[in-house]
Amino acid sequence: MKLVCQTTALALAICLSGCSKSQKEKMIVTKQAFGKTADGTPVDLYTLSNNKGVRVAITNYGGIIVSLFTPDRNGRAGDIVLGFDRLEDYLKGHPYFGAIVGRYANRIAKGRFTLDGVEYKLAQNNGENHLHGGLQGFDKKVWKPRAYTDAEGEHLELSYLSPDGEEGYPGALDVKVVYTLNDNNQLRIDYTATTDKPTVVNLTNHTYFNLAGEGDILGHVLRLNADRFTPVDAGLIPTGELRPVQGTPFDFTVPTPIGARIEQDDEQLRLGRGYDHNFVLRSGGGELAEAAEVYEPNSGRVLRVLTTEPGIQLYTGNFLDGSLRGKYGRVYARRTGFCLETQHFPDSPNKPAFPSPVLRPGQSYRSTTIFEFSAR
Ligand code: GLA
Repeated sequence: MKLVCQTTALALAICLSGCSKSQKEKMIVTKQAFGKTADGTPVDLYTLSNNKGVRVAITNYGGIIVSLFTPDRNGRAGDIVLGFDRLEDYLKGHPYFGAIVGRYANRIAKGRFTLDGVEYKLAQNNGENHLHGGLQGFDKKVWKPRAYTDAEGEHLELSYLSPDGEEGYPGALDVKVVYTLNDNNQLRIDYTATTDKPTVVNLTNHTYFNLAGEGDILGHVLRLNADRFTPVDAGLIPTGELRPVQGTPFDFTVPTPIGARIEQDDEQLRLGRGYDHNFVLRSGGGELAEAAEVYEPNSGRVLRVLTTEPGIQLYTGNFLDGSLRGKYGRVYARRTGFCLETQHFPDSPNKPAFPSPVLRPGQSYRSTTIFEFSAR
């Protein structure tokens, strides 16, 4: 049985011939050409779908989620992520739309850290700090794809071997990211990695959601299972403090519109130009637990986020400035998308009191995040 079919009549025929009727609907991860990178490497777009009307298209360039259709409360499908129609637009540069981010998601102060007494120097690509893996992070790599279907759902497995010293990080890092779409309307992302030298790892996905499909995200109602957050300095590096959210605009322990307090005169909101902060999840990480729920009142769409990570970055698209035009000709103005990036805390390699992002030979890095979709 051929599990992955090109969208050609011939391949489709091969796929259909060995399937029972219900399998036919489930067992086709479609693949289409998405373009070529600057050095001529072809990349593809894979579409995973389920029997509840959810459909996600992912390219093996950067592991980017290009589109994600989910039903609203009337069953109408809409695309709820920011992105582009064409690879070319991603190649021109963009703020990590939908991408896998690594080796270290978010910031490392001054692009430096010391591990086992050795100092490592990374690219300083965000002022004096290191951001999202550096100049050529995982969001810009061509990953090796493998699409398959099993009882759990449709999968796209992406592999990448990051050479020793890439972007200044020690150790060859063997990374695998598996996207799974199941019939419970969950898009699950399983990250695993191994190394041949001690190193640091922090992988996430940087999807910008807009559950209404367009407009700003200020009316989206957010709940976060976090009683504390990590306040930052002017370079958005955590100060090390774990500050209670209670009595601050960072309290999302009860569902609150993202925009309700975003313009308040608050030092942390000023530094982030809105929300661009890591929240300390109540679960503490390790076990899969609910981190967040977002409800969009007009469409009725709900996004739940579950993760094994100890932290989550709420980023409210403060740096979007209307200069990018995406799918459907939409202009991505300030705060027209939000990210919930599951992660280890920013700058953990320099903060011994934070949960450790160190990975050693013989150990396995494992991280799982689930985006679950519904409507009410
Ligand atoms: C992250 C950061 C933000 C910003 C975006 C990309 O979420 O925390 O400060 O850099 O990525 O624009």
